[in-house]
Amino acid sequence: MRVGDLDTELATDRGVFSPSELDFGTRYLLGAAPRPPQDGPMLDLGCGYGPIAVALGLWSPQAPLWAVDVNPRAVQLCRANLDRHGRPDAKACQPDEVPSEVRFAAIYSNPPIRIGKVALHEMLAQWLGRLADEGQAYLVVNKNLGADSLTRWLNRQGWPTARLSSRRGYRILKVGPHH
Ligand SMILES: C[S@@+](CC[C@H](N)C(=O)[O-])C[C@H]1O[C@@H](n2cnc3c(N)ncnc32)[C@H](O)[C@@H]1O
Repeated sequence: MRVGDLDTELATDRGVFSPSELDFGTRYLLGAAPRPPQDGPMLDLGCGYGPIAVALGLWSPQAPLWAVDVNPRAVQLCRANLDRHGRPDAKACQPDEVPSEVRFAAIYSNPPIRIGKVALHEMLAQWLGRLADEGQAYLVVNKNLGADSLTRWLNRQGWPTARLSSRRGYRILKVGPHH
């Protein structure tokens, strides 16, 4: 599969998100969002088997990289994919294993919209609250799954959020640190 600039094989399995092909939203995010800074730290929030994490790890090979997911199988596959792509130093783990003092220069996510609005808002508030002062987050969200209401909610909560681009019903949202 093509991940970012790379044609490669990633380990996947049943029971993780979009195992048989790279999700359209993920592919769009990797193609349309700006590259991460070279110094990091970077976060792939809801990493699944790790296509976003692998791309981030290749683009910014020196930057500390975290990939989190609540699905243990996803974390396991993401770990294997990071190892295979030259990032054995990157962390793939459960969300609560990330030390509380880590602040992210860049967060990328194809977030789990289907967990429901309350849980999604809680998850995003938790991680966007950990953006560094100059940090940026990039989220890909389908319009039919509430991209525009999520944009309004984020702005109301104090995270400046704008639509970076839009394609086939998907939006890339650019989110800045809380103010
Ligand atoms: C839409 S999938 C994206 C997966 C992967 N990034 C990709 O692009 O193929 C969202 C992921 O978020 C994970 N997830 C659900 N709730 C979560 C939470 N509270 N914290 C972190 N990840 C979560 C799911 O297990 C799922 O793997």
